[in-house]
Amino acid sequence: MTHNKVLLIIGGGIAAYKSLLLIRELARRDIETQVILTKGGAEFVTALSAGALSGKTVFTNLWDMTPTVEGEAEMGHIELSRSADMIIVAPATANLMSRAAHGVADDLATTTLVATDKRVLYAPAMNVRMWEAAATQRNVQTLREDGAFFIGPDVGDMACGEYGPGRMAEPDAIADAVQGALMGDMTLDGLRSEKPLKGRRAVVTAGPTREAIDPVRYISNHSSGRQGYAIAQALADQGAEVTLVSGPTSLPAPLGLKRVQIESAREMLAATQAALPADIFISVAAVADWRPAKTHDQKAPKPKDDVPPLEMVENPDILATLCTSESRPALCIGFAAQTHDVIALAKSKRIRKGCDWIVANDVSGDVMGGQHNAVTLVTETGEESWPRADKRAIARQLAARIGEAFKDA
Ligand code: CTP
Repeated sequence: MTHNKVLLIIGGGIAAYKSLLLIRELARRDIETQVILTKGGAEFVTALSAGALSGKTVFTNLWDMTPTVEGEAEMGHIELSRSADMIIVAPATANLMSRAAHGVADDLATTTLVATDKRVLYAPAMNVRMWEAAATQRNVQTLREDGAFFIGPDVGDMACGEYGPGRMAEPDAIADAVQGALMGDMTLDGLRSEKPLKGRRAVVTAGPTREAIDPVRYISNHSSGRQGYAIAQALADQGAEVTLVSGPTSLPAPLGLKRVQIESAREMLAATQAALPADIFISVAAVADWRPAKTHDQKAPKPKDDVPPLEMVENPDILATLCTSESRPALCIGFAAQTHDVIALAKSKRIRKGCDWIVANDVSGDVMGGQHNAVTLVTETGEESWPRADKRAIARQLAARIGEAFKDA
């Protein structure tokens, strides 16, 4: 029987210790592992441990590689990258992925990645902020477009004391994925560590709406869209298929979900309804309650000696409309932006709008347009206050709560 062979590149992160267990998990599945240990990786685990577990010499240095056949000009690293059936990069650090995405070939690991013609599976592991950084996400996207595959990162507690996506996928999950891919009974495209919202569809509205007075003037509000975008991203990270219906914001489209851009409340309602059916609806948008009764086709001239008349009509209530529609998502969540009597008003708003949960926030401070939020979750059974935190942390907490709600559903 011929054994499958993988090349495991161990990068420089604390999760490197899990890569030693990965070697054993692969061996249990009859998969041979050849290890390349990066300089950073060697700060966390030793070549001796990796060599003892894999039963093979561990390569660390590009310049130690010798031609494989005497007299032949072929470099050892080319041979190394092509003799394996697959390459696994675990832990894949932000730095390693950045260099790989840019084709940098300045050490044995990156040279091997540039030289390979085999499938490459990255198991990222890093601090949540580094994972969420725009540069890291750009590099992940580039690597995906170049044909690489990803497993994880998982959501959970991290060595640095933070919580969120950033943990390296567990060794047995990586080994299962590799085995499945090598046996051909599973494509790496289907790779995901188990996510609580996998198979669920979610629609999230975010940002302000803009209600036109004429082609150059409009009525709007200070919403930045940050909280809604973070929630859409957190749901996608938990495996949900997400449509983000967004008013005008300066935020980049999050990765791994569909963004539909609209301007007015009526456009937001139409785009939201078009995204149904869904299991989850979260109405984070700061929808303008009113719009000008008439939108001028041309820029309205300044009236002489008078203030311009501005007659307003009411906009549709998107949350209430969806909550009472025939295609009502199973879990509808609204936000209640209040400046006073936060909880009492949120409770009555939950009933009035017909939603399941209300996330109440006090917007009397720097919440609108800011980075932080302090919220109270109001459900049918009670309320819980969450401490003031970064909007992304609030989003992850909400996504985790939703994951729990759907666990047994
Ligand atoms: N909402 C909506 N459509 C509207 C107005 C609000 O979908 N036309 C949603 C918001 O996205 C939010 C919830 O309803 O999830 C509550 O929004 P908020 O502005 O706090 O409440 P209002 O309905 O505007 O009530 P009030 O201004 O009286 O507080």
